[in-house]
Amino acid sequence: MSTCDLVILGADYDGQLVDLFVGDGEIIELVPAGKNTPPQGAETLDAKGHLLLPSLTDVHTHLREPGFEYKEDIESGLAAAAKGGFGNIMCMANTTPVNDNATVTELMLEKAHMAHPFGPRLFPVGALTKGLKAEELAPMAELSRTGCVAVSNDGLPVLSTELFRRAMEYASDWGLTVIDHCEDPFMGAAAGMNEGRTSSLLGIPAQPDVAEAIQVARDILLAEYLDLPIHLAHISCKKSVDVIRFAKERGVKVTAETCPHYLTLTEKAVVGYDTNAKVNPPLRTEEDVTAMLEALDTGVIDMLATDHAPHAAHEKEVEFDLAPCGISGLDTALSVTWELVTAGKMSRATFLRAWTVAPCTTFDLPLNTFAKGDPADFFLFDPEEAWVVGPDTMQSRGKNTPLTGRTLSGRVTAHFLAGEKIV
Ligand code: DOR
Repeated sequence: MSTCDLVILGADYDGQLVDLFVGDGEIIELVPAGKNTPPQGAETLDAKGHLLLPSLTDVHTHLREPGFEYKEDIESGLAAAAKGGFGNIMCMANTTPVNDNATVTELMLEKAHMAHPFGPRLFPVGALTKGLKAEELAPMAELSRTGCVAVSNDGLPVLSTELFRRAMEYASDWGLTVIDHCEDPFMGAAAGMNEGRTSSLLGIPAQPDVAEAIQVARDILLAEYLDLPIHLAHISCKKSVDVIRFAKERGVKVTAETCPHYLTLTEKAVVGYDTNAKVNPPLRTEEDVTAMLEALDTGVIDMLATDHAPHAAHEKEVEFDLAPCGISGLDTALSVTWELVTAGKMSRATFLRAWTVAPCTTFDLPLNTFAKGDPADFFLFDPEEAWVVGPDTMQSRGKNTPLTGRTLSGRVTAHFLAGEKIV
């Protein structure tokens, strides 16, 4: 039995005032405030005015180390994650060198442990193909043994359906789920802008939503044929949602994520040629935003992910066509999505499923539901604290967000992982 060493007093948990008892890194009990007396010697923390929430899990980040430390490194990325409410982070393989071998995976894990010994926990996603070149399969046994929790060619879609099928089969031998960046590589060549009236008015080369949905359909048909799981990354549009709904009704083992920017922004954010709104897949239309919110609510889209993609200012401060795709998201994701809860556009239950239960059960990561014995991974959140998004308020090295200058509500004031204070 755990010895209580930490008590959080008087936090707001779904409208109830509660005390949380923690011991040996685990949840002991969550009880109505004042019901039990904190034991002698236990540290206490007054949480009045704060919401108590379980740590979030992000299944899709780009931490840029090794190779692009000027954009972000593991230390700065995990610092942003900690302050952003994230306890578990899955990081993509598009580093240099690519994470397609044990040496790179080990380096990532060691750097994370050295920089943040108590977390956030880093879970690398290995490359699906060597060098992400979509020509030869990566050594998945080695990646799995070293600590990769999934494999993906994120950022660089796989053209060959035959290679992709073999990758799914091989990955399953090692218990790895394939995460796919769904994009027809030819149709999707002009990344970063949605094809439609706005792109025509701006004169920007653009990609249609079907470039994504076609690949979603391919993946789903393969998953059904092989009877293997597939996870679809950063789904952005209604057409994809319709295909995923159809697949789920047929019992295909498909899970899908979307990102805060696809729930809150449209292609109109690009008007003015804002390169910070250039992201792949691109921001879509109002109709798509509505469909994404509904799909998340009904569970057609299982989970949220940031697709945190930090870039340096000098890379974004160029002509729209030349700028790299990506939005820095770890700092803003919690506030942006909690604002949706406050506005009645997302239920609290959906928020918790999408940021905690669904990602953790899909990828077998530590999950806190505040049940006895769960890891004591939680944070205190002041929903009223207003903050202005900008270089000084973001922990990430990547300041590239179309939300710059926007006032957001809600900040993490304390964050604990396995009972250890990380913020
Ligand atoms: O916008 C994006 N940026 N989408 C991706 O798939 C990759 C990412 C990056 O690595 O910058």
